[in-house]
Amino acid sequence: MNLILLGPPGAGKGTQAKRLEERHGLIQLSTGDMLRAERASSSPLGKKVQAVIDSGQLVSDEIMVDLIASRIDRLPKGKGFILDGFPRTQPQAEALDAMLGRKGLKLDLVIEMRVDEAALIDRIAGRFSCATCGASYHDIHNRPRQDGVCDICGGRDFARRPDDRPGTIKARLNTYRELTAPILPYYRAKGVLRTVDGMAPIEQVAAQIEAILETQGAASNG
Ligand code: AP5
Repeated sequence: MNLILLGPPGAGKGTQAKRLEERHGLIQLSTGDMLRAERASSSPLGKKVQAVIDSGQLVSDEIMVDLIASRIDRLPKGKGFILDGFPRTQPQAEALDAMLGRKGLKLDLVIEMRVDEAALIDRIAGRFSCATCGASYHDIHNRPRQDGVCDICGGRDFARRPDDRPGTIKARLNTYRELTAPILPYYRAKGVLRTVDGMAPIEQVAAQIEAILETQGAASNG
């Protein structure tokens, strides 16, 4: 199963992708995480994209397509993937189709996560993540089971993202509206788009996604 989680900043793409990884053995391909790793290692790419990310703009399509192509090329045979944060523009969506076609892979589902803007701002402003494994938490809605200890890896260091500042959040939401939301009709026309209510609590969003996967699995099997 190969799928895309598509939604605005703070919609819960990363949170649900991690669950899908654990539950279905799919591989999360998060372009945001890849860029942050480049930045943390001070690679030439990391230095080049730092200012763009911090301003809430998009990194160029050319860079992003190369980055994701190299990851898709390295996927273990037979493993499905969850794209989180890619594609974000029409040229990226078309490049993904071409890339998958060359490798004989199919895109099964695009799951749109819909969340009101006020809730997005609240979620992003309260977000922190495990500095070791990247698991995402929230000050109010999604605290670790034990304060100060990551549920997933037991790590005790947590971090907040530099682009989660209030001014940058607005810019990221504008970028989503202008450049990313317009690709939804492209996937609707292909018949792969499904929508979940991302305003629901995390467990309920996960249940909605599971129901879609089950329907899809049943359809593919018969
Ligand atoms: P990226 O890292 O992809 O950021 P994003 O799309 O802005 O998404 P977020 O990671 O902010 O949110 P999310 O939907 O994963 O939500 P999360 O699960 O964390 O990209 C960062 C930057 O990199 C971009 O701005 C751009 O510059 C660049 N970039 C990346 N990809 C690119 C591309 N393809 N092209 C060009 N540039 C690119 O949840 C958020 C919070 O809410 C958490 O605290 C979580 O615990 C909480 N939460 C989650 N679900 C719920 C729920 N149901 N109820 C209550 N709280 C919830």
